[in-house]
Amino acid sequence: MAAILDAAGLNKNFGAVTAANDINAAIERDSVVGLIGTNGAGKTTFINMITGYLKPDRGRIHYEGRDITRLAPRDITRLGICRSFQIPQLYASLTAYENMMIGIGVVLRNAGRGGFFSRGEPLVPGYEQPAAAVADGLLQRFGLAEYRDKNAQVLPGGVRKLLDIALTMVARPKILLLDEPTSGVSAEEKFAIMEMIMKAVRAEGITVLFVEHDMEVVSRFAERVLAFYDGRIIADGSPEQALNDPEVKRYVVGGELHRLDEEKARPRA
Ligand SMILES: Nc1ncnc2c1ncn2[C@@H]1O[C@H](COP(=O)(O)OP(=O)(O)OP(=O)(O)O)[C@@H](O)[C@H]1O
Ligand SMILES: [Mg+2]
Repeated sequence: MAAILDAAGLNKNFGAVTAANDINAAIERDSVVGLIGTNGAGKTTFINMITGYLKPDRGRIHYEGRDITRLAPRDITRLGICRSFQIPQLYASLTAYENMMIGIGVVLRNAGRGGFFSRGEPLVPGYEQPAAAVADGLLQRFGLAEYRDKNAQVLPGGVRKLLDIALTMVARPKILLLDEPTSGVSAEEKFAIMEMIMKAVRAEGITVLFVEHDMEVVSRFAERVLAFYDGRIIADGSPEQALNDPEVKRYVVGGELHRLDEEKARPRA
């Protein structure tokens, strides 16, 4: 199957630290890829390079056959590559609905939409509906309708995560890069959140790359796993292949178990 995204020979150094060391990965359209690796392995750097927030020192990134390596983040988003950050980027004192409307406003502005109106309202590109309808539609789709008029700061952690991801959908992505969509969420909640994300996103055949530290979540939701260690991809295969790879067991899964132990041992604030 044709690759929607192709990263070839990516390198990125920060001083003496090599955050990306010859990263090669072709991502198939309509697939779900899990990115794993312990802290500092280079997962976020990979996402930052694809989305234009960091420029690789070497290497190229092609998206739908087009070289996007040097494009600005905004132009990459406009082409259909959208992301969420490790920490939700929400306006705390605004409601869920108002947060959606601001995101949609940005999309409308970026699209320079002047000409496409319905009863005086601009239509959101890709949805061809007015902003309010798109906002409510997405809140509904992500199971957030009951939180519509609540301020973001009072929402439970898992709901904030979902709202943040619903926000990435306003730009009609073809690829979604989710940096730790379930971080800070309890183990029991993780599965429900991922189910909701996948249901809402995969119905449209959006390609998903997600960073996840919980190997049970990775096994359940990823079709393919890229394992990062020290700026390199040390395994690339099905979850079963990747998670049973000796290097991954040693450098990634072992490290994660250690990390989970530490989390359990840490006193709750
Ligand atoms: N902007 C930056 N400036 C300097 N060093 C950076 C920068 N971004 C990342 N690094 C370094 O590059 C390495 C890879 O970091 P990266 O954030 O990609 O790791 P990660 O796999 O996302 O880790 P985590 O699981 O903790 O989020 C780390 O050593 C990090 O300290
Ligand atoms: Mg990271």
